[in-house]
Amino acid sequence: MVRLNLATALLAVTAVAWAVTNTPSTVPGAYIVEYEEDQDSNELVNSFEGKASLRKDLRFKLFKGASIQFEDTKNADTMAAEVAAMPKVKAVYPVRRYPVPHHIVHSTGDAVQEVLSKRQEGNDTFSPHLMTQVNKFRDAGITGKGIKIAVIDTGIDYLHPALGGCFGDACLVSYGMDLVGDDFNGGNTPTPDHDPLDCNGHGTHVAGTIAAQANNPYGILGAASDVTLGAYRVFGCTGDVGNDILIAAYNMAYEAGSDIITASIGGPSGWSEDPWAAVVSRIVEEGVPCVVSAGNDGDVGIFYASTAANGRKVTAIASVDNTITATLLSGASYTINDTEEAFGFTSGEPGSWDGVSLPLWAVSFDTTDPANGCDPYPDSTPDLSGKIVLIRRGTCTFVQKVTNAVAKGAKYVMLYNNAGGTVAVSAPVEGVSGVAMATAAQGETWIRALEAGSEVVLNMVDPAKAGKFITYSNNTASGGFLSAYTSWGPTFEVEVKPQLAAPGGLILSTYPRALGAYAVLSGTSMACPLAAGVYALLMNVRGTKDPKTLENVLSATAHPNVFRYGGQSLPVLAPVPQQGAGLIQAWDAAHATTLLSLSSLSFNDTDNFNPVQNFSISNTGKSAVTYRLTHVGAATAYTFREGSITPTEFPGDLTPDFASLSFSPPGEFTVEAGHRKIVTVRATAPEGVDAKRLPVYSGYVAINGTDGLALSLPYLGVAGSMRSAVVLGAGGATLSRASDGAYSPVPANVTFVLPPPGFADDASYRNRTERPRLVTELAMGSALVRVDVVPASRCTTAWKEASENMFGSKSIGMPEGMPSFWNARGPLQYTWDGKMADGTYAPAGLYRFSVRALRIFGDAAKAGEYDGAETVNFRIKYLPAP
Ligand SMILES: *[C@@H]1O[C@H](CO)[C@@H](O)[C@H](O)[C@H]1NC(C)=O
Ligand SMILES: *[C@@H]1O[C@H](CO)[C@@H](O)[C@H](O)[C@H]1NC(C)=O
Ligand SMILES: *[C@@H]1O[C@H](CO)[C@@H](O)[C@H](O)[C@H]1NC(C)=O
Ligand SMILES: *[C@@H]1O[C@H](CO)[C@@H](O)[C@H](O)[C@H]1NC(C)=O
Ligand SMILES: *[C@@H]1O[C@H](CO)[C@@H](O)[C@H](O)[C@H]1NC(C)=O
Ligand SMILES: *[C@@H]1O[C@H](CO)[C@@H](O)[C@H](O)[C@H]1NC(C)=O
Ligand SMILES: *[C@@H]1O[C@H](CO)[C@@H](O)[C@H](O)[C@H]1NC(C)=O
Ligand SMILES: *[C@@H]1O[C@H](CO)[C@@H](O)[C@H](O)[C@H]1NC(C)=O
Repeated sequence: MVRLNLATALLAVTAVAWAVTNTPSTVPGAYIVEYEEDQDSNELVNSFEGKASLRKDLRFKLFKGASIQFEDTKNADTMAAEVAAMPKVKAVYPVRRYPVPHHIVHSTGDAVQEVLSKRQEGNDTFSPHLMTQVNKFRDAGITGKGIKIAVIDTGIDYLHPALGGCFGDACLVSYGMDLVGDDFNGGNTPTPDHDPLDCNGHGTHVAGTIAAQANNPYGILGAASDVTLGAYRVFGCTGDVGNDILIAAYNMAYEAGSDIITASIGGPSGWSEDPWAAVVSRIVEEGVPCVVSAGNDGDVGIFYASTAANGRKVTAIASVDNTITATLLSGASYTINDTEEAFGFTSGEPGSWDGVSLPLWAVSFDTTDPANGCDPYPDSTPDLSGKIVLIRRGTCTFVQKVTNAVAKGAKYVMLYNNAGGTVAVSAPVEGVSGVAMATAAQGETWIRALEAGSEVVLNMVDPAKAGKFITYSNNTASGGFLSAYTSWGPTFEVEVKPQLAAPGGLILSTYPRALGAYAVLSGTSMACPLAAGVYALLMNVRGTKDPKTLENVLSATAHPNVFRYGGQSLPVLAPVPQQGAGLIQAWDAAHATTLLSLSSLSFNDTDNFNPVQNFSISNTGKSAVTYRLTHVGAATAYTFREGSITPTEFPGDLTPDFASLSFSPPGEFTVEAGHRKIVTVRATAPEGVDAKRLPVYSGYVAINGTDGLALSLPYLGVAGSMRSAVVLGAGGATLSRASDGAYSPVPANVTFVLPPPGFADDASYRNRTERPRLVTELAMGSALVRVDVVPASRCTTAWKEASENMFGSKSIGMPEGMPSFWNARGPLQYTWDGKMADGTYAPAGLYRFSVRALRIFGDAAKAGEYDGAETVNFRIKYLPAP
């Protein structure tokens, strides 16, 4: 039987929870308008004579526009089209919604209660810092002084003692604002104010990773604790954010003079042209590094880059699991021959532990017994009613273990783990009052004492009133390896994503005081702020803030790791689409004197193969260095399984078929101090691979110098044609009833009785009407998906009005909200109330939906470059207007 370590089990569970993903939803009637030239947003809104309101003025140095809300959502598309046609308007985009990124909350602390552990003293030993060399900066007194980092998130609990305790000048959190207000949910009107206090938790955890002060009892340290933070709060206490708010927050953070902007927010995309991503790219071009979490959709497999991380020049941060698992437990004490010690436990069900003080009794002294306490106890067993029975976890169920103990009179059972950390056990067996779990190490300590003949007494407390006890265990299952949940690139246009990796799995940091003050969380959201802190440290040491210089040096010095899955390592490096350049090594990056002119190379696909590329190696050191270039391949990842057109889920289908790279100049070459050398890389895609399955190959150019230097430059490419990939799923396009949560296809010719035109949102029609829902799936991303409403019968009036579309079929046009741009792969559903994109309503009649999805790198003007599918015919009728 395979038993999973706690960390792995948690990640596996989470992967399932995160599998439900989709292209972000939009806010009905809300649009982002980008101006060609600056203009008064109020004037634009007023030109709609009360039909539109200003959601957010978006007039900034780097973006001129507004987001507007049409009150009359039923005619919004028509009005949006009018706006788009205005000469002073460059583009109009629907407002998209993004949720607070999913993150696992493993355990939380408790601010008001005593903490039974010591704060960190002396040198920095915080494990995420040891993994990334950040500890060396603190030990050398470099702490990000003078650098401003803007955090775009759920706000920050700046009153937290470890986060400065105040907001404003001279505080750690010194600038920023709340762009939305507590009640904002992504769809309603934001009510901004000047107080970015966090009521969610996510942003406070992120802030602690950057800048937590040492005055906390858990040994938490920010990577750059002397920076000043800007808190741009873009979420209410619950709900989503719109990309108009994100665009505003980024521009405000930029204009406030932030040196670095970090955001642990995103949604599936795969397209760098997405408007929010495009704004972030502009800010990077203006000289401000922007790090964005890569996303937590690793389970979905390759080609699932998240926006805005997938923007050009945006630094996407992948997650690596912490080497140490910290767990915040309930604190209690025990005595061995009257010597008292503290310990931690996780109470289970039942959990009536209040005031229980009883000696321990162990089933056996074997701390490796895989099936401890699974069999009924022997007749010689004493009465256990006055004992706490100690049993090792494993093999049989908790209920069986507890049942065997209860059979001998036990009322209390303390389990000890057979893996890292603890779990909450449920064993509501008749007769038992309390079950709990302690760590494996604690269990072993007790067993050894019992074996030596000592008396061990546990002095338990009510878990609801217990103080907190922090325990650490070595994460032998996944520590230092890529987190299973970290999202995979590249973009559909074969841009390298992610760029870098940082510890994000099992991270202990600050949390809002009201939610426990400290917590252990997992997600790329937790990795990104560490990278932001590292940028600050590098700015201190290198004296430059240039995003390109800093990304290049972080990429060159990062450490790629091997691929790991389910606690097993493969003898091959993890693909660049999973880990980018690898785990940040900040001290090496701060002190590197050999600089590369790039952070990665993309050889593109076979149609756009760009096999010969240059980069330069600059020797900024004080003496000549001789360099040697070699090639190290990473695992090639097949996008598709044999016969499938949908990318394979994690862990994917990996092969050790490498590309071959040659270099010019070949062999070794010497670069004098202060000089640089152009190197030409020539790539040959891996041979013998199945091009139809779109193999994504990747690896590293290794650059070793005689000064002991070891740098690497990641690359990737696709050994197949992206354009040949079918983008519309094999299931075609089916039609279901909008009320049918199972999406069961309906037969042809079903009649849908719709609310009267304009009454779609009127609840009083809900029980008498049914809308059709188009159900389809994008096997791969598509930059443009259009849906046509095609009249199916010459008898309908619509037939006369229909004209031939670019695909040669008669169409009365597209329904409201179509076409859809920059679509991620995955399910695509569309519910229709009869309204067309031009604001009119389709006449009653028989229709079908015709879906066309543009192939990757396809020409939008050519019908042949779309995949198409049609639904069955369906009839629509409208109820009469009241
Ligand atoms: C603490 O760090 C400094 C600077 O790296 C080092 O010299 C010193 O030996 C370290 N002390 C301990 C106890 O590790
Ligand atoms: C505790 O007392 C018992 C019985 O006197 C003895 O065997 C044992 O070694 C003692 N344990 C310790 C840790 O001193
Ligand atoms: C973790 O492993 C290291 C070395 O392998 C060891 O020194 C340390 O005691 C272990 N820590 C825990 C909490 O098990
Ligand atoms: C790959 O080629 C296409 C077509 O020329 C281009 O649009 C795309 O930007 C290229 N990708 C990269 C990473 O250069
Ligand atoms: C690469 O550099 C070489 C030598 O400097 C130059 O001749 C060549 O044109 C460059 N190629 C590219 C693709 O930039
Ligand atoms: C380059 O350096 C790395 C790290 O020290 C080492 O593993 C690798 O073998 C070196 N490569 C060559 C060609 O010397
Ligand atoms: C749908 O109706 C058409 C005539 O309008 C008919 O030809 C066709 O057989 C019908 N299909 C089904 C499945 O009933
Ligand atoms: C539908 O709901 C309305 C109230 O919203 C009610 O008056 C009406 O009787 C219901 N009709 C049916 C058919 O259930």
